[in-house]
Amino acid sequence: MNSFENKSIIITGAAMGLGLAAAKDLAARGANLALVDYNESSLAEAKDSITKDFPNAKVITIVADVSKEEAVKNYVDETVKAFGRIDGLYNNAGIEGRQASITEYDLAVFKKVIDINLMGVYYGLRYVIPVMQKQKYGRIVNVASVGGIRGVFHQMPYVASKHAVSGMTKNAALEYGKDGITTNAIAPGAILTPMVAEAFKQVNPEDPKLAETEYAKANPTKRLGLPDEVAKVVSFLLSEECSYVNGQTIAIDGGQSNSYGNV
Ligand SMILES: NC(=O)c1ccc[n+]([C@@H]2O[C@H](COP(=O)([O-])OP(=O)(O)OC[C@H]3O[C@@H](n4cnc5c(N)ncnc54)[C@H](O)[C@@H]3O)[C@@H](O)[C@H]2O)c1
Repeated sequence: MNSFENKSIIITGAAMGLGLAAAKDLAARGANLALVDYNESSLAEAKDSITKDFPNAKVITIVADVSKEEAVKNYVDETVKAFGRIDGLYNNAGIEGRQASITEYDLAVFKKVIDINLMGVYYGLRYVIPVMQKQKYGRIVNVASVGGIRGVFHQMPYVASKHAVSGMTKNAALEYGKDGITTNAIAPGAILTPMVAEAFKQVNPEDPKLAETEYAKANPTKRLGLPDEVAKVVSFLLSEECSYVNGQTIAIDGGQSNSYGNV
């Protein structure tokens, strides 16, 4: 198991889903954690559940909307104040938006998806990278999606924003590899989190579980992924040991994005 003793890691969107699963995995490995989310009550609950499971973990919480530049600058400052350095950034906060055709997509929702998924990730890079440059060390994991390497029916702004995350990952890798900073992205498939549960409700409001079962048929593993399965990959990418993977977008999807037609 990779050790994170004396490493401090920022996780955005840490209150639930993939962010919370990674927080628990990293706490188990000894990391100091700065948990960021705009859902204040869920963030407090997340901190409680982590410190209950890992009483020695040093955890701070910062309420912030990652689409607001000042709020991002503040979570970076608060983390440096608390821990003196930033070893890792898990740039995870994101939303799906609504599902609608291109011509009917609500413009306000379109812009919100771009503001959070694209600009939120960019602001994180903009303010964390200078701290990592001074340290000559850093690990960044941005959260793209299979929607960052493939089209997804009725999810145009999500797909646009996640392709952008994959592109920004390549650029950050090119520009800051010389400073001891690696930047990678993950592309999860359908992982059972509150966000995905909501998506299945939109596909079949009467029977979301049926929508889930139907969806899983197209996956080589015949099931959805679990947040913990993603967390273990993220912890590796954020670890000191992962020193020569840079600029990659790594699918965590049971192999589904490699298939063409029925499996
Ligand atoms: N679950 C999946 O199957 C899946 C697949 C591909 C990509 N992803 C991506 O993984 C990331 C996490 O997704 P999840 O499934 O855990 O979602 P989730 O909705 O379960 O959790 C997301 C968390 O991010 C927070 N958040 C959202 N917008 C925010 C903002 N502007 N500022 C601060 N916090 C914000 C929410 O409050 C929530 O706690 C997202 O970027 C998502 O696009 C998820």
